[in-house]
Amino acid sequence: MSSCCKKALTNDEGIIKAVNEAYSNIAREGPDRTYAEKVANAFGYSAAELQSIPTASHLGLSCGNPVAKATIKEGETVLDLGSGGGIDIFLAAAKVGPTGQAIGLDMSDDMIALARRNAANGGLKPPQVAFVKALLTEDLPIQSNSIDCVLSNCVINLLPTEGKKTLMKEVHRVLKPGGRVVLDDIIASKPFPDSLRSNLAAYIGCISGAFLLSEYQDLMESAGFNETLFTESLSDLNIYTQGDYIGCCAPTTEKSGCCGPAKPAVSDLAGIGDLNKWAKSYQIYARKSDSPVPTEPAPTSALNNWWDAYPTPTSSPSSVTCSKVADLIRNPNQGKEDFVVIDVRRNDHAGGHVRGSVQCPAQTFYDDLPRFYDQYKDTKQVIFYCGSSNGRGPRCAKWYQDYLNKEGNSQSQAIVMEGGVKEWLSAYKGQEDLVDRD
Ligand SMILES: C[S@@+](CC[C@H](N)C(=O)[O-])C[C@H]1O[C@@H](n2cnc3c(N)ncnc32)[C@H](O)[C@@H]1O
Repeated sequence: MSSCCKKALTNDEGIIKAVNEAYSNIAREGPDRTYAEKVANAFGYSAAELQSIPTASHLGLSCGNPVAKATIKEGETVLDLGSGGGIDIFLAAAKVGPTGQAIGLDMSDDMIALARRNAANGGLKPPQVAFVKALLTEDLPIQSNSIDCVLSNCVINLLPTEGKKTLMKEVHRVLKPGGRVVLDDIIASKPFPDSLRSNLAAYIGCISGAFLLSEYQDLMESAGFNETLFTESLSDLNIYTQGDYIGCCAPTTEKSGCCGPAKPAVSDLAGIGDLNKWAKSYQIYARKSDSPVPTEPAPTSALNNWWDAYPTPTSSPSSVTCSKVADLIRNPNQGKEDFVVIDVRRNDHAGGHVRGSVQCPAQTFYDDLPRFYDQYKDTKQVIFYCGSSNGRGPRCAKWYQDYLNKEGNSQSQAIVMEGGVKEWLSAYKGQEDLVDRD
């Protein structure tokens, strides 16, 4: 292993960067399916569970099946830390149902994009299922005392030591009184020699960053969990070396530069031998005390609404009056015909909509942006509206304008129709050339 690969592990930033690159690679390239199936079977997912979720959501990165033991009930709010392709979120979403919520956090843009695609293919969207980009080593974007069950599957070991401590305190903050945490993770069986500690392949592969049992017990206690149950899951960790993969991690064929993109090879584990001698997979279960706790302040970015799952838009699109839009529709041959009207409402269509408008519900709009852009990138005026054009309409217009700016596209422009469909209907109700019904 090169010295720069070793260097990646000498500071927290280097660790997070190397881990992010490795897992982003997997999200982009997809796993070897045979290997992914083997890992899922080895760590306790049943065939029925795997068939019930999108195939691309299980990537062979787990070390347990936390949902199976978490007794998740309908209507609960579940948070998964390091949600990857979404495997445990989709299993949890089926249990919480439409009245509950399953939120996945991950730092990797590629993992979040993959999980959102998987969700969209299954018709799941915020607020019921939300994937949010977040660093687990910082304040979580979640309200205090709001989560019934926190899950995590083979992630905590990947965090730097201080990050593990910050995260577990955050887990305690976000759980409701009486809420529970179910973690599947790797725990070290004995102190690691320096050669193993500094082995990037073994770190990314979920081994070298593992705490000893006593360290994990201290971690939970310092975070405020009084009684924590540690159950060894007796799984064979050598499964991780049986593919073109390392540990719970990346394919190995390419390796470039100074660990970037980080794709350490199985051969980098040479000398480490039988992984079961060094570490074991455990399930860790704890409950937050039932007694009321003073409300701890939540970060300002805390997830309150479905749109908080997506980046905050920054642009300020212009607006247009209903009468100008009516002109465009009634006089399409005056050289202004290059426009489209987008209705971003979801299910509040009573009374009708702007004739010719395209339905694009706001809740899935951000995920659809690349497809939307492909369709409308040459359309000069893309006009958005919702009920009163106070919330969803302007938000989608801003997201679209941000996307145009990112693409350097000045041909197309996002515009908000002032007053939304309410003003439209009060002005044009009964005028069939302007109002249509579903
Ligand atoms: C071993 S994978 C497990 C994925 C998923 N839980 C599963 O079982 O398939 C670890 C995941 O945690 C994420 N992760 C690792 N360190 C993180 C950090 N510091 N902040 C946020 N996400 C992190 C990675 O991007 C990756 O998706």
